Amino acid sequence: MEKYLEGLDERVIEILKDEGIEDLYPPQKEAIPLVLSGEDLVMAVPTASGKSLVAYLGIVKKILEEGGKALYIVPLKALAREKYEDLLRFRRLGLKVAISTGDLTRSDPRLARYDIIVCTSEKADSLIRHGSRWLTDISVVVADEIHLLNDPGRGPTLEIVLSILKKMNPDLQIIALSATIKNAEDIANWLHAKLVKSEWRPVKLKEGVYYKGSIEFSDGSTKVIDAKPDPITSLVRDCLEEDGQVLVFVNTRKSTSSLAKKLRTITKEYLSREDLERLKRFAEEILSLPEETTSLDTDLARCIEDGVAFHHAGLSSESRRIVEDGFRERSIKCIVATPTLAAGVNIPARRVIIRDLWRYELGLGMHPIPVLEYKQQAGRAGRPKYDDEGEAITIARDRQQKSRIMKDYILGEPEPIYSKLGSEPILRFHILSSIASGFTMSRESLLDFFSSTFYAYQSDIALLEDVIDRVLDFLEENGFIERFGDRIEATMFGEKVSKLYLDPLSAIYIKRAIERASPEGEPAISYLQVICFTPDMKSLYLRSDDYWVEEKLDAIKDHILMNIPPVYSEDYEMFLSSLKTAHLLQDWIDEVPEAEICSRYDVGPGDIRNIVELAEWLIHAMRELARIYRFDLVRDLNDLLLRVRYGCKKELLDLVRLKGVGRVRARALYNAGFKTINSLRKVPLERLASIPSIGRKIALSIKKQVGEDLGVRDLG
Ligand SMILES: Nc1ncnc2c1ncn2[C@@H]1O[C@H](COP(=O)(O)OP(=O)(O)OP(=O)(O)O)[C@@H](O)[C@H]1O
Ligand SMILES: [Mg+2]
Repeated sequence: MEKYLEGLDERVIEILKDEGIEDLYPPQKEAIPLVLSGEDLVMAVPTASGKSLVAYLGIVKKILEEGGKALYIVPLKALAREKYEDLLRFRRLGLKVAISTGDLTRSDPRLARYDIIVCTSEKADSLIRHGSRWLTDISVVVADEIHLLNDPGRGPTLEIVLSILKKMNPDLQIIALSATIKNAEDIANWLHAKLVKSEWRPVKLKEGVYYKGSIEFSDGSTKVIDAKPDPITSLVRDCLEEDGQVLVFVNTRKSTSSLAKKLRTITKEYLSREDLERLKRFAEEILSLPEETTSLDTDLARCIEDGVAFHHAGLSSESRRIVEDGFRERSIKCIVATPTLAAGVNIPARRVIIRDLWRYELGLGMHPIPVLEYKQQAGRAGRPKYDDEGEAITIARDRQQKSRIMKDYILGEPEPIYSKLGSEPILRFHILSSIASGFTMSRESLLDFFSSTFYAYQSDIALLEDVIDRVLDFLEENGFIERFGDRIEATMFGEKVSKLYLDPLSAIYIKRAIERASPEGEPAISYLQVICFTPDMKSLYLRSDDYWVEEKLDAIKDHILMNIPPVYSEDYEMFLSSLKTAHLLQDWIDEVPEAEICSRYDVGPGDIRNIVELAEWLIHAMRELARIYRFDLVRDLNDLLLRVRYGCKKELLDLVRLKGVGRVRARALYNAGFKTINSLRKVPLERLASIPSIGRKIALSIKKQVGEDLGVRDLG
């Protein structure tokens, strides 16, 4: 190993050995000397083959030797945490590591003090928009899971970020990590990088199809499995029988919980006394995390007590973390998850069962998943340090399907990836930001910039020219930019919108709405409806039994701050769905219990969090624009922002500033006669502790907060 790490600080070898890394894998042996000599690199190798380590070593070498900063870009927050925790090992070398994934409307000045920053692509984009000065110090950037350039949602942002950073810092070293894809050469050529490509995997991954009581693997081997009572139960039991853990992927959230519940009777049989104790603690933690629990939390806690869990985006991020940790500690024997768990995470699954090779797609109906996604799901099985061999198993209904799965998925080649930058909504967002941050100042420089993107590499910049011109006209007509001869500049409005990370179209809706608002103010629902109509909100779908939404419209018609689209138009449907989402938020700020919101709108606590987080951002943006155009609304919007953040009526806004006091405890205090923080001084501790949902621990903390050490929460 030493031979390949030549030139690196000697302590690195110690750090690796402490982590149980005694030797390097063949693809690492090929890639590491390249990154250590400063080359740009694209590494396209199978799952679990230790790509991250190559990036870590490249970072360490660069920073210790040449200084500067490293940016490690990942697609998801959960992955950011994993990488951040890995990178903390290098603190021993004096390197300071930070993670930054939150608030996209602010610069994060503390980051100037760190050497290595782990962030999502959106956060990197936002940091660029805020013109943080240290960006020019970045000497090495890692793009993890770079095949996601293909993703219509996240891809373009990553593409823009990489293109800008490359332009900004011509000496920048780029290390891009990819799953095996058909056209890794394209990415390497685009980045002018060396390519390391391999099919080698450190832990053998056997892929097979289950059909009628037996698994047929691609290497020709077979395994007979008791077919009763049904394939999944038997496959799970078979793996637990051999002390392995199982991860099952299904295509809907509902299936994750219903299947997990069904598997409880199986997993239960494989728990040691120690497991049972730990599981009990995990279950308690799930139930005690928030002030209020929903049926999703209770279901999850019950499953966990029996050694099985479900995992999807409807769960709160805290619950998801407990599930992942419990699985890593090996007490949770089986997770049933949606494919969000498939991207890059390390968990000890001996066997992955992929139940569904299709999923519902808007406009397309049921659609087969790409091979790339199948491979990512399969690749969670058999991770180094955890298992010596992994298995990925799909289930066939008939003989014909069995051979199709074998041919198309198991032996199939992952698809090539294509840039998704070319669409108008995406371009208007990024073009405004590139002008507002002073990065491009003319049509010429804009074209020049876009000709350096992956999109231009793959197609033809001429195709983009028309779209770019249309976007420029749109931005000019709507007051985001001004043109002076050849020069293009952002207006104050344009600059503000770019920093608020808003889609320009959202900004137009928001600005029109505040201009329209009555000087006497408007009810909360008016503002909430507008932000829910913007393309930046992920509105709820309208279901056939949602006629109540339209019924409620009559009462508030006069307070709607946009032109209501004609009935039966496509926009009308969007309008109703914005109104439905706005009602969810209205319930939230009226203190309707979370459990009730979940059943009323058929969502999970994680969905409420997501909508609330987006609403907080958009109301914040609305308030910031009101500072320019309608100062008289700022106070109301500020109250609304806080109500959305805490999910409460205005009268609780003082109490919820206390740490450990959310809307439920604040309501209990309020109902007990304590209406302000001030009123909590001088109350005997026992009296406070006796209030429902408060208890001694919280009472003590409140006392501490109202005493000398008044650590109230930042009101932002
Ligand atoms: N040379 C090595 N020896 C032993 N373990 C290693 C070695 N290199 C990496 N590992 C371990 O292998 C595991 C998988 O590594 P990593 O997450 O980097 O895989 P990956 O290639 O990024 O996979 P994916 O495509 O699924 O994201 C990690 O736990 C890592 O610590
Ligand atoms: Mg990875």
